[in-house]
Amino acid sequence: MRILALETSCDETAAAVVEKTQSHKPTVLSSVIASSSNLHAVSGGIIPEKAAREQLHYILPIIGQSLFESQNKLYTKDTSFAEINTILAKSIDAIAVTQGPGLIGSLLIGVETAKTLSYATNIPLIPVNHLLAHLYANFLTHDFATTPFPFIGLIVSGGHTDLLLFKDHGIFDWLGGTRDDAAGEALDKIGRILNLPYPGGPEIEREAMKSSNKIVFSRALIHSDDFDFSFSGLKTEVARFVQKQSTLHTQLRADICKAVQTSITSTLVTKTLKAAQTYNCKTIFLGGGVSANQALRDEFAEAITREGANTSIFFPDRTYTTDNAAMIGAYAVYNSETTPWQHVHANPSLYLTS
Ligand code: KG4
Ligand code: ZN
Repeated sequence: MRILALETSCDETAAAVVEKTQSHKPTVLSSVIASSSNLHAVSGGIIPEKAAREQLHYILPIIGQSLFESQNKLYTKDTSFAEINTILAKSIDAIAVTQGPGLIGSLLIGVETAKTLSYATNIPLIPVNHLLAHLYANFLTHDFATTPFPFIGLIVSGGHTDLLLFKDHGIFDWLGGTRDDAAGEALDKIGRILNLPYPGGPEIEREAMKSSNKIVFSRALIHSDDFDFSFSGLKTEVARFVQKQSTLHTQLRADICKAVQTSITSTLVTKTLKAAQTYNCKTIFLGGGVSANQALRDEFAEAITREGANTSIFFPDRTYTTDNAAMIGAYAVYNSETTPWQHVHANPSLYLTS
């Protein structure tokens, strides 16, 4: 089965062709992404109307390119719609699309395009929850010869921080999540306080590497007896700390970045391992943009070794941590229930229910 997958939940316009084969891992035949991130870097954060306009600009060429590349063909600006339609009709068995959560204007571009294609070609439609797809990026990276269930899933993205207990494909319990800012959101907002370019997460990671570890910030809810997180207090703590300094010299900024990163990673690691222990779960999946962070990956590995826990942890390949369409296709490979196009609607607040 070959799936054309579309992802337009925020400022990335992405399309991919993913194939379910006899082997354990789905094959990514193409994965194309256009981003309006540079536009938002100027304003220090995403402007939803601008993101939606860029989605509209990119969506058809990105679909054309992904279909062409899936056939090892070169897509150019002169490629005709007829050629794209032929590939779609001949080789694609289903169209998967991010239904939510995300920005309504951005989501609408992907969802309405997918519905139109489905209507015009009769190719069935698979609506996908963007958050769950972040975890399924692991199925593109690792070859699971045996089923990895149950696993604890930690979604750490720009808009969400959630812990789930996954029992089977599409079947899970929500254990907890952030009460305020998501981990990525906190990094992006703190990046702005520190005059770092948007998005703040990768910048803070780079700066933290130059730190001499002089500062410690608090770790909200790290020992609370639930699986919730809270990261907005950290932002306020950093803002107050910066206000008290006469200058924000290079070394000080690096030390602040390291302390911020450690505050967030240690809370994520502690709570996730606690969930694994509580539910006697030996497998952990991470997903979302923040899971690209090497310090987070290292801290998980060290904590598992330190505790002597017989736990396996999986991260997606970095290409598939931030928003992409291949992960949407991966989710659809394993959760391939289709929905008539008339019943598929963009839902900016689609949440986690199984
Ligand atoms: O999953 P994603 O691409 O988009 C959402 O679904 O929200 O995540 C974007 C988030 C941003 O907040 C960005 O700062 C963060 O992921 N991020 C990182 C790193 N790369 C991206 N955070 C920490 N370290 C990184 N290397
Ligand atoms: Zn995302």
